[in-house]
Amino acid sequence: MGNEHGMTSRSQRVLKIRNWINQYDSCFIATDTYAIRWLTGFTGSNGLLFLDQNHMTLFTDSRYENQAAIELARFGAKSNCVVGPNPMRSIADLSKGKNIFIDSEKCSWAKKEEIESQIEGEIVDAHDFCFSLRGIKDKSEIDKIKTAAEITCRALDRSLAELDEQTTEKELAGKIEYYMALEGASNVAYPPIVAAGSNSALPHARPTGQRILTQDILLVDIGANYKGYCSDMTRMIPLSTMSAEQKHVSQIVLDAQRKAIEAIRPGIMAKEIDGICRDALNDKGFGDRFLHGTGHGVGLEIHEFPRINSRSEDLIQEGMVITVEPGIYLEDSFGIRWEDLFLVTDTGVEYLTNYGKLTQLDETQG
Ligand code: GLY
Ligand code: MN
Repeated sequence: MGNEHGMTSRSQRVLKIRNWINQYDSCFIATDTYAIRWLTGFTGSNGLLFLDQNHMTLFTDSRYENQAAIELARFGAKSNCVVGPNPMRSIADLSKGKNIFIDSEKCSWAKKEEIESQIEGEIVDAHDFCFSLRGIKDKSEIDKIKTAAEITCRALDRSLAELDEQTTEKELAGKIEYYMALEGASNVAYPPIVAAGSNSALPHARPTGQRILTQDILLVDIGANYKGYCSDMTRMIPLSTMSAEQKHVSQIVLDAQRKAIEAIRPGIMAKEIDGICRDALNDKGFGDRFLHGTGHGVGLEIHEFPRINSRSEDLIQEGMVITVEPGIYLEDSFGIRWEDLFLVTDTGVEYLTNYGKLTQLDETQG
């Protein structure tokens, strides 16, 4: 499992990158807010972090002058902070003609061109390395994700307790966000998906003005963000008019999810987990209605390493936080998805989304 001591693990993060770039005698630049936060604790919306064996320098603008100093000190990051409009000359000096690794998926074309025009070395894509960098979580990260998941569960309980004949998808989504905030969330991990009736057949439906209790089934896919860390959970809420077919399909998805969860352990390939889930749905004749991958890692971003789908070459390891979220989507009729969030342990998984799989709505109350 990751390191117990936050500070040590934070300096290990930097060391991981230094060891890697050292093999290529190169430098590293992070341009995205997630990587910068992970390495320095800085939470501003604009930053560029330069890293080599001797320097770690955060460039940001004057809006963040005070905030950056406070956050870096609190985080224990051994980084210089340079506040100014244009870091490019400094990067040219710092990189000393060496190549610079950058995550191509996190750096705009314009920024890449700008950096390239200033440096003597070349820009080299480090996406694969960067994507896997945050896959294994340390204790401080796991604690935040657990808290985010607990907040999510409490917010869902409080929101469902107020569901009445008038409540629309949009209103329930708004209430969930409101109760997440009251329960201590920093933010939402992503806009809530609240989809009743045939809207649930769209895997990523946007909440509408439809009244929920005029429908037969309700899908709620929600996650709070706590101190930067996300959670992710999908529940089917049984409305009184849920049909026998819906119950049957719901059980098929639950069984597929359970089989996949039972297989999770360190050393299994992510695509094997996907295969187990997909086979279970195929066996029941619904394989072609499973329209997405089985799951994904969760952390500072809602979708992180590892990818759990049929093409993934990612290996499941202890300390990863992952979802398992099979679904069956029957166009114009209804959709079912069950999603939970897990910590991968040395022997299997620990559930982080401890929210019951309800068989009737009033189980949420009391
Ligand atoms: N629960 C949102 C997603 O995984 O895309
Ligand atoms: Mn998910």
